[in-house]
Amino acid sequence: MRITVIGTGYLGAVHAVCMAQAGHEVLGLDLDAAKIDALSSGRAPFFEPGLPELLAEGLASGRLAFTTDPAEAAAFGEVHFLCVGTPQQPGSNAADLRYLHAAVESLAPHLHRPCLVVGKSTVPVGTAAALAAKLAELAPVGAEAELAWNPEFLREGFAVEDTLRPDRLVVGVTGEHAEAVLREVYAPVLALGTPWISTDLATAELVKTAANSFLATKISFINAMAEICDATGADVTTLADAIGHDARIGRRFLDAGLGFGGGCLPKDIRAFHARAQELGVGSALDFLGHVDTINLRQRTRTVDAARELLGGGFAGRQVTVLGVTFKPDSDDIRDSPSLHVARMIAAEGAEVRVHDPEGLANAKSAHPELECVDSVEDACAGADLLLHLTPWRQYRELDPAEVATWVRAPRLLDGRNALDASRWAAAGWTLRLLGKPAPSPVG
Ligand code: UGA
Repeated sequence: MRITVIGTGYLGAVHAVCMAQAGHEVLGLDLDAAKIDALSSGRAPFFEPGLPELLAEGLASGRLAFTTDPAEAAAFGEVHFLCVGTPQQPGSNAADLRYLHAAVESLAPHLHRPCLVVGKSTVPVGTAAALAAKLAELAPVGAEAELAWNPEFLREGFAVEDTLRPDRLVVGVTGEHAEAVLREVYAPVLALGTPWISTDLATAELVKTAANSFLATKISFINAMAEICDATGADVTTLADAIGHDARIGRRFLDAGLGFGGGCLPKDIRAFHARAQELGVGSALDFLGHVDTINLRQRTRTVDAARELLGGGFAGRQVTVLGVTFKPDSDDIRDSPSLHVARMIAAEGAEVRVHDPEGLANAKSAHPELECVDSVEDACAGADLLLHLTPWRQYRELDPAEVATWVRAPRLLDGRNALDASRWAAAGWTLRLLGKPAPSPVG
């Protein structure tokens, strides 16, 4: 099929590449000429495992191309996927839908033949219906430019795998024709036995916000338990393992620590609550405000624990932060809990050095006040305290005895409870974990 993908950010670039991999003819559209130049010459504009290889394959096959021209995209596609960002509005919890409306406004006037426009962006419930009306009004072909909603559940770091082999496909449609077209688009994925859920527009929009809200709630639940564990000497990891054996609960997304960040969960729970308030049912989602508060509190709890480890103050101390991205296997620093902690500690007078395997370039341009260091050894040299805040595999592979020779004092706060604490203690490190007692240093 001939498919366009409008918006080539995280979601769009991965979707375009994977649709070409699935055998479709794909044209990616973005107004950002630098991004289109990069993609056209085979450079992925962000770090995502597996993406550069598939981008190169797609370009070489001749099935994947990119443009900045909406008229060209409109003329090319039978199916147009809307993949633009819906960030948090400045000064409000609600979602900013301006890019989505702009995308429809730039595409619609060029739609001269019947087609399907498919929204993938995360949106407040009711957005799809409004966009369907706008599309029918602005497109020369009228209501034959049909709208459907097809939320995306990909995780950064696993985006290619999640797109090619998703655990479900959800489509919101207003008629059988749209569903048939989408079944054809996803035929290779459906052939893998992927569950297919076809529903109305509002339910499809809600599936996405409900899923992200549930995941955020799960993380804040275990972090609330971590606070109770800290007050009682109990161990949150054992607690999570034990409750996770109950298949109704499940162990995934119960890793306690510094909490969630990124470009999705934080803004999505806020936008969902804001939308519920607009609908007059805000109290149904008031708990999401608590989820947000518990999540943000893990950042101040981490700063408090770090201060305590240093004997009460940061002034004049050197602190090294390992990991600046919001999660490993990504270079994304949007609402990164780790960077937030680093900035709070710097504001209290510490000299903060940060390291990350992939996120340093982004951190450098966004936060020139932090010292970004390329090698772990140089970042740790002379440190009074190490903070392990993003659980990259590289940090789990460090030799604690060797790292002890780099620092001024062997103190470590593991904000992700991901390092082998007994190994670090055995090498003489004083440790602090979140929600569990730390083994005492040996020697
Ligand atoms: C999230 C959802 O998981 C995807 O399904 C969804 O498609 C995506 O948002 C989106 O809306 O686009 P992502 O933002 O890539 O994906 O990241 P997650 O893997 O969900 O992790 C989010 C944050 O939670 C990270 O900061 C991570 O460190 C934290 N986390 C995760 C925990 O603190 N504990 C856990 O047990 C799991």
